[in-house]
Amino acid sequence: MNLDRVNAIIDVYGADPACSLAILQEIQQENNYLPKDALELVSQRLSLPRGHVYALATFYRTFSLKPMGKHRIKICLGTACHVHGGPTILETFERALGIKAGESTADGNFSLEACSCLGACAQAPFVQVDNDPHNQVTPVRVTEVVKQYAAPDGNGKGA
Ligand code: FES
Repeated sequence: MNLDRVNAIIDVYGADPACSLAILQEIQQENNYLPKDALELVSQRLSLPRGHVYALATFYRTFSLKPMGKHRIKICLGTACHVHGGPTILETFERALGIKAGESTADGNFSLEACSCLGACAQAPFVQVDNDPHNQVTPVRVTEVVKQYAAPDGNGKGA
């Protein structure tokens, strides 16, 4: 990531340590992850210990220290989803995308994550792609979801 851009984001917040989360969120949004050099710069400019910045970056699920795909697929493996076939849904996504949970596709289009409860237990097995909910997902629906988000418009709203 261009560190000039990181500096510009930090400048918007006046290099205020109280805004560290907002700054990290903007960096994550623009870059799809938090590069190490960006975290170092945030630490320096906000006069925060490096360990504190890394603690924030690793505590919140929204952040990633690894490059993420354009679309983040989160498979819930909480209790309700586990009971209703969540592991099968995860395996089906893994086969469809050719990656394991925690990885991204080579084309940078998808990341796959196994998650604890996403708060939609009545819709188990539940999957979230970016901010879109996918309720009571079946293995057949997995293929449809992958096609939907691989569409040329890339917004996941269908071709
Ligand atoms: S257990 Fe999956 S949404 Fe709660």
